[in-house]
This record gives sequence, C-alpha cells and structure tokens, in this order.
Amino acid sequence: MNVCIIGTGYVGLVTGVCLAEIGNNVICVDKIKEKVDLLSNGKVPIYEPELDNFLQRNIKNDKLAFTTNISDAIKESDIIYICVGTPPLSNGQADLHYVEEVACEIGKYINDEKIIVNKSTVPIGSGDWVSMVISDSIEKNNKNKNVSFNVVSNPEFLREGSAISDTFFPDRIVIGSSSKKAIDKMLKLYEPIINQSFNWRDSERLIPKNTKIPVVISDLTSSEMIKYAANSFLATKISFINEIANICEKVGADVSKVAEGIGLDKRIGPAFLNAGIGWGGSCFPKDVSALSNIAGEYGLSTQILNAVVNVNREQRLKITQKIQNELKIIKGKTIGVLGISFKPDTDDTREAPSIKIMNDLVNLGARVKAYDPIVSAALGSLSKKVEICSSAYEAVRGADMFILATEWEEFLKLDYAKIKDMMRSPVLIDGRNYLDKNSLEKQGFKYIGIGR
Ligand code: UGA
Repeated sequence: MNVCIIGTGYVGLVTGVCLAEIGNNVICVDKIKEKVDLLSNGKVPIYEPELDNFLQRNIKNDKLAFTTNISDAIKESDIIYICVGTPPLSNGQADLHYVEEVACEIGKYINDEKIIVNKSTVPIGSGDWVSMVISDSIEKNNKNKNVSFNVVSNPEFLREGSAISDTFFPDRIVIGSSSKKAIDKMLKLYEPIINQSFNWRDSERLIPKNTKIPVVISDLTSSEMIKYAANSFLATKISFINEIANICEKVGADVSKVAEGIGLDKRIGPAFLNAGIGWGGSCFPKDVSALSNIAGEYGLSTQILNAVVNVNREQRLKITQKIQNELKIIKGKTIGVLGISFKPDTDDTREAPSIKIMNDLVNLGARVKAYDPIVSAALGSLSKKVEICSSAYEAVRGADMFILATEWEEFLKLDYAKIKDMMRSPVLIDGRNYLDKNSLEKQGFKYIGIGR
C-alpha cells in the first residue's frame, strides 16, 4: 500500500520505517528541510537501537523516502498517518496545534478516498475533531468537495530503546473507527505483523512464527482512551512499587524480593515493578496529566492518578534526603551521577529523574559530575552548573558519593575496585536497584538502594 507519514519524530519515524520493512511504499513528510535531508541520507537524528539499519535498507530498496512536499505525499497515498507531537501545555493539556495544522493540510490536498490515522497521542474525542477540521478545510480550500475520508485511531505502544521490536512483536494492535471499510484496510496493512509472517531471522524472533497478534477493534473514543489508560496504569504500577519500596525500607524488607513475590501472581505480572527514582520520559508525565485534565473537564477528580504523580514527585526528593542522611552537609561535597537519560538505550532527557536530582544537588551547593553513555550535553540551565564527564570513571573521581540514575548496561561492567580507589569515600546510591549489592558491599562500598 502507499502510506504517508506526517511528522518524523520518534513515532513517525519508527512507524514509517517498519511499514516500509513489511513491504509498503512509505513517504515521510516533515517541514524541517535539514531533517528531511539528513534522513534521506540514511542518518537518524535520535538514538534508537537498529533504527538506522532499517532506515538505510528501506531507502536503498526504494520502499522509503522523505520529503517536505506534503501535497504530493497526501495525493499519492491511500493511508495518511498523523504523527506530529502533542507536547504538554503549562496547564497539563495536550497542545494540538500541530495536529490541527496537519489536518488542515490534509483537507486542502486530499484528492481521493483516504484513511487518516491518528497515531499521535491525542485527547479523547480528537478523532471526531480531526474529522471536523479536515471537512472544514475541504470546504474552504479544496476544489473537489466530494472527497471522502475516514479517521482511524491507532495508538502506538512503543517504548524508546526497543521501538523496532515493540512494533514487530506487539502485545496487541488497537484500531478504532466507525468505518468497517477503514478497519478492514488497516487490518490488511498490518496483516504481516498480525500473522507474524514477515521476514525475520528465526533465532531473533521474539514470538514464534505464525503466532497471531491480538487485535482490539473499537470505536474511536475507546481506542483513544486505551492509550491513556495503558500509560496511566503502567505509571501507577511503578508508583505503587515505589510506595511499597519506601515502606520496605522502614520495616526492613527487600522490595526486589517483594516485587518478585507479587509479580509471579498472573493477575499482577512481573513487568514494571522495578522500584527506583521514579518514572520520566516524554510519555508517562504528559499522558497521566492529560488524562487527569480530560477528567476535570467532566467535573471528575482523578484521585488515583493524582496520587501516582505525587508519589513520583516525592520519589525524586527522597534521593536528596538519602544523600543528606549519609553526607549530612551537601554543600562542598562532590557527587558523581551515572546516567542522565530518563532510561537506558535512549538519548531522551525529558522529565528524566536525574535532571531534578542534579538540580537539587547543585542548589544545595554540591559539585556535580555526570556521565551518560549517549547524552553529552543538552542539559539546558544545568549545562553551566554540572560537569559533564567523558567516562564513568571521570564522573566518580574524587566523589564523596555516586548515584546510579539510569541503568545503562555499561555500568554493570565497570571496574568497581578501581572506582573505590578513585572516590573520596566509597558510597553509592543505586537509584535503579541495578548493581550487585552483595558484591559491592564485599568490595567495601556502602551500598544504598531503593527499598532494600
Ligand atoms: C512508554 C510506554 O511503556 C509505551 O508502551 C508507550 O508507547 C510510550 O510510553 C508512549 O506513550 O509513547 P517509554 O516512555 O519509552 O514508553 O518508556 P518506559 O519503558 O515505559 O519507561 C518509562 C519510565 O518508567 C522510565 O523513566 C523508566 O525508568 C521507568 N520505569 C519503568 C521504572 O521506574 N520502573 C519500571 O519497572 C519500569
């Protein structure tokens, strides 16, 4: 099929590359010419494992192209994905002006029957609103007033760092629309993924060949709600285990064991029960507050979601308290921070817990030295106050303590005997319960975890 993807951010790029990989002709549109040029040359502006290989292969096979020419891309495609950003406004609502701009453009250039797929995470009810904006734009800007289209909601469930495998091996695919014809066409588009019939080396398959991926077909609104409810539930799971971790610390239990013990219950499940310094990123914070806002529009208060956000906020403050407990006076102390990105295998620092923690430490007068395997700058107001180091060893040299803020695999392989010798005092806070506590304690470190 001919597919057009509008917006080459994280979601658009991964979706475009993966749809090309399963045999479609994909044209990705972005208004930033430099980005289009970069992508056309096979270069990926974000860090996502494997994405560059898939991109280059599909450009070479003539299955994938990039353009700034939105009108031709719309005209030549059967299915048009809206993948532009919906960043949070200061009041927590999602900013829809990019989606609106794209919907107007679609209305202007649509020339034939099309399916419009809302892949951007949009507030509940936006599918109908997008239909209205497109219809208004057809009325105002299009010579051909009789073109027809159907809007489909098809939320994404990709995680940064494993976006490609999440697309090819999803837990489910959700398609929301009131049009049977549009749903059938989307099922056809996703057929190779639903039937797991695409080419992939068997040894690397995450699901056995020919297993059926569940598909949830719903109305537009339910599909939009599924996205918010899924992210909010996952954030709830993490805040829940963090609250349990805080109680574990007081009563002398180990939250890792508690998570294992409850996670084996099939009704609970083991995923997203890693206690730590809290959740961040571009999705959970934005989506949880947007859902809360939507509820507010109906006079509902979201008591669970509010608590989920509060627990997460306090979790970051707890790290500073742990440091104060240990070092007493923070002013004049040197603290190393290992990991800046909000999670491993990404260069994304949006709402990263490390940023809040480093800010607090700097404000309390500490000298902060940080290292991340991928993030080497872009710390905004922190850039002048935090020393960015070129290795983990540099970040801990002369430190009174170090904090592991992101569980990059590289940190498992460090020479901790060497680190111990380099530090002023061998104390660490493992903000992700990631390192081997027993082995570090044997080597003479004071190990402070979360909830253990
Ligand atoms: C999340 C969802 O997992 C995806 O399904 C969804 O598609 C995506 O948002 C989105 O809406 O676009 P992502 O933000 O990439 O994906 O990251 P996650 O892997 O979900 O992690 C989010 C945060 O939770 C990270 O800060 C991570 O460190 C933290 N986390 C995760 C924990 O603290 N404990 C856990 O057990 C798991």
